Amino acid sequence: MLKTRETVYTARRFGGTVRVPGDKSIAHRALLLGSLAEGQQVIEGLPPSRDVESTARCVRKLGGAVDTLPDGRVVVFEQARPTSKISLNAGNSGTTARLLCGLAAGRGIACTIDGDESLRRRPMERVAGPLGKMGARVITSPGGTLPLSVSPRSLTGHVHRPETASAQVKSALLIAGLFATGETTVIETTPTRDHTERMLAAMGVAVESDGNAVTVSGGATPIGTTVSIPGDFSSAAVFLATAACLPGSTVHVLSTGTNPRRTTFLDVLSAMGCVVERSEERISGGEPSATLTVTGTELRAVTVDDPSVVTGMIDEFPLLAVVATCARGTTTVHGASELRRKESDRIDAMARNLRALGAHVDEFEDGFAIHGPCAMHAGRVSSYGDHRVAMAMAVAALMARGDTIIEGASDVAVSYPDFFNDLRILLR
Ligand code: S3P
Repeated sequence: MLKTRETVYTARRFGGTVRVPGDKSIAHRALLLGSLAEGQQVIEGLPPSRDVESTARCVRKLGGAVDTLPDGRVVVFEQARPTSKISLNAGNSGTTARLLCGLAAGRGIACTIDGDESLRRRPMERVAGPLGKMGARVITSPGGTLPLSVSPRSLTGHVHRPETASAQVKSALLIAGLFATGETTVIETTPTRDHTERMLAAMGVAVESDGNAVTVSGGATPIGTTVSIPGDFSSAAVFLATAACLPGSTVHVLSTGTNPRRTTFLDVLSAMGCVVERSEERISGGEPSATLTVTGTELRAVTVDDPSVVTGMIDEFPLLAVVATCARGTTTVHGASELRRKESDRIDAMARNLRALGAHVDEFEDGFAIHGPCAMHAGRVSSYGDHRVAMAMAVAALMARGDTIIEGASDVAVSYPDFFNDLRILLR
């Protein structure tokens, strides 16, 4: 049973071996692409995450079957297309909402897409606008937000140049492009995570990549395959960051996804002085994975402002903020204003929380600076409704002197329901 409030004590020891739940980003794609495939998609290691449950619920509403086999694998296939307008609720999940937008527009499914209070604050025009250029009719609420509606229209391929580097936008457009006439190309300012491209290729769809451009042709049908989901790098990163902050501690995270567009946090940890190792490297379904090991040492501050580094660790900035409190010098982040458009405003949420524990934090529109090392004391902090903030603040609380209370701790269920149990095991 998840508690809405957790008390986290100063770490006396930390280390060991852990396996984290399957990658949330890959799981959404395995379900959504499975629902439009010819034949069955078999998914191994679907994570028990609230966001992934939202996608599974929407896939069922779209007429897909999502069945769990006795051995725990999940099978997805198309049963029947909806015959009237449907309402889809993406809950807290931006990936679900945005990818669904492309899928519904592509397949010509009349629907409304909505989400929870946090998702209703997040920008959707970045998907609706480019889909409109392909001929789709996607009408957002005033301010470009949810709820939005999709009406069936036939689509034409287009060359898109999104202003913001976003894998969700790219994926929505590529999925819509499968149903458009001609070619659909997305040219990104900075290459984002390529899980959709890798999975489409594994499902037999020709995906052309050339530098920052990705192209699909209309009319290609993905063929159901077996997708084996590696551990979620962003969940593994919580434990890697904890080891990084505690000199002499070592943690091993088994079978973790190591897609190079997701793992620049490892390079940053190395630059800060940590020992980062990979072993048992393998590739499955086009996605690399490895056991990741981090050993903590005395840390030094870094500057993160390179766009490809920022994009490659976009979900790890709450953790970097915590690691920075343990590093000597000023850690500075710029070029990361997207952090203000996540499940919470992550710059504001982390600045408030870390200051509540006595850390020295400067906030910028596009980043932050943390003057370390900070001698943190216990306090009361909040998830701000954001799973990654809740987990990052659990790490901060381990470094603070005394007992820290985390309000909204149960938000971890969005990606990692067992997080506090696994953390407790590593603290024994
Ligand atoms: C995701 C892409 C990123 C990331 C999010 C998951 C995805 O969002 O922050 O957690 O699965 O494609 P953006 O596309 O908004 O950068």
